[in-house]
Amino acid sequence: MLSHRIRYAPLKEKITDPAQAAAHIGDGTNLFISGFTAGYPKLIPRELVKRAKAGEKFKVNFYAGASTGDQVDGIMAEAGIVNWRRPYMSDRTMRELINREEILFKDDHLSSLPPLVRSGDWGKVDVAVVEVLAVTEKGHLIPTMSVGNTPTYVQQADKIILEMNDVEPPELEGIHDIFIPEDPPYRMPIPIYRASDRIGKPYIECNPDKVVAVLFSQEEDTCASFNEPDEVSLLIAEQVLDFVQHEIKMGRLPAGLPWQSGVGDVANAVLGGFMEDDFFHDLSLYSEVLQDAVLDLIDMGKVRAASGSAMTLSTKARQRFFKELYRYKEKVILRPTEISNSPEVVRRLGVLAVNTALEIDIYGQVNSTHVCGSHLMNGIGGSGDFERNGAVSFMVSPSIAKGGAISCIVPMVSHVDHSEHSVDIIVTEQGLVDTRNLTPRQVAEGVIRKCAHPEYRDLLWDYYQRALKKRGGHEPHLLDEVFKFHARFLEKGGMRL
Ligand code: COA
Repeated sequence: MLSHRIRYAPLKEKITDPAQAAAHIGDGTNLFISGFTAGYPKLIPRELVKRAKAGEKFKVNFYAGASTGDQVDGIMAEAGIVNWRRPYMSDRTMRELINREEILFKDDHLSSLPPLVRSGDWGKVDVAVVEVLAVTEKGHLIPTMSVGNTPTYVQQADKIILEMNDVEPPELEGIHDIFIPEDPPYRMPIPIYRASDRIGKPYIECNPDKVVAVLFSQEEDTCASFNEPDEVSLLIAEQVLDFVQHEIKMGRLPAGLPWQSGVGDVANAVLGGFMEDDFFHDLSLYSEVLQDAVLDLIDMGKVRAASGSAMTLSTKARQRFFKELYRYKEKVILRPTEISNSPEVVRRLGVLAVNTALEIDIYGQVNSTHVCGSHLMNGIGGSGDFERNGAVSFMVSPSIAKGGAISCIVPMVSHVDHSEHSVDIIVTEQGLVDTRNLTPRQVAEGVIRKCAHPEYRDLLWDYYQRALKKRGGHEPHLLDEVFKFHARFLEKGGMRL
């Protein structure tokens, strides 16, 4: 039994079962949950799905920190019980329903959500469901493997349901650093001057009178599965690291700037590259999601601090992390998303930001979210928080997708998430272009020659040359054919002529 982890005795009276707890949630409830790739509740979503399967008709407006696992997004989408979903998600079924507007979705920069919730812009926080490791003597909450937006959701909630999880060891307590800034016009600087700075409390402040139910859970998060980085990811990572190394050696970039790297294979390959390269040591990460490679780097003694909002680990890495928590805890800090992704802090620390695009255009505009302009993939997540504010912002992508049917370098992106003004360095496995001191025309020449796949280079070059001659201007474009690449893909299944 986990009741010893409830150190505020009155809450022991609230221990109940999922059916009783979920009775607080009904049609139209604004349901806010903990979780940011990890650390999400599992019992309440399953109970709601059970009710839907038994014939009850209801839909909730459902808000998390970012993506969750199949145990939440997947089953709730399939059961048809989600009206609104915000923010970032990555579940295939949910994606399909969002693209059919059967689930309402609005994409948001992750750092900007908590103030909107506090302002009431998202509606009332009717119920917050939070996965917790323990409850302190005063009724405050110790989260599990993520912090996300939970501090704000708990602060604003009318009712709180706790899912106490005993998968994580109690020693995890102390890894979190919870700080909610005042909202404007009373906001003061967020006092983080190094990635390792702790500025808050190790728990989420909670008024225990608002807790209506406590559940015990032994359910694990669906663990991340990481592939060994493929050749393309390794080539991209190598170029990013070589570039930074070169800039430091030339005295144009100070050593010791913290890194952010997005999610996925390229991000892991960048971190993997640090292991093989003696140049990089004493690393700081000021990122959003910390993945397996962070543990390897800590083991190698290469990490000064790793700050994020969540730890998303594979099953093997989780076991290792829990076994030697005492070591990892010295280096890892989990913060609310509005702090891990804070534009103010990212700018102050001079973060080197590395994020992945779906497609990049010849002038450096980036689409990270909408396939062929229309269909949502996952969402912008934290990429805008970091790209816009990093000291040097890398946007990376394989040069082709779908076996070469798609060129990820296009004349004009079919949807804009990051403009040319937020992106400094464009990298594919083919090459790298530093856009910072180039005119848009020079960027186009560099991107076509160095970053595009050889199969698409002539096609892009031909488009650019004709645009130059026919239209001219600062960023020449032929408006009647700027989306011909995409149109060909939609009509014929490929962008090639
Ligand atoms: N057009 C259409 N589809 C494309 C494409 C393009 N230009 N480029 C890639 N794809 C497809 C791939 O074929 C793949 O499809 P599949 O799932 O059917 O196999 C899918 O998009 C994912 O591509 P993949 O190469 O596996 O990349 P990834 O897992 O690294 O994801 C993003 C890439 C852009 C979707 C992902 O990084 C993302 O959601 N980014 C936005 C949020 C973000 O950056 N968060 C980090 C901030 S901390």
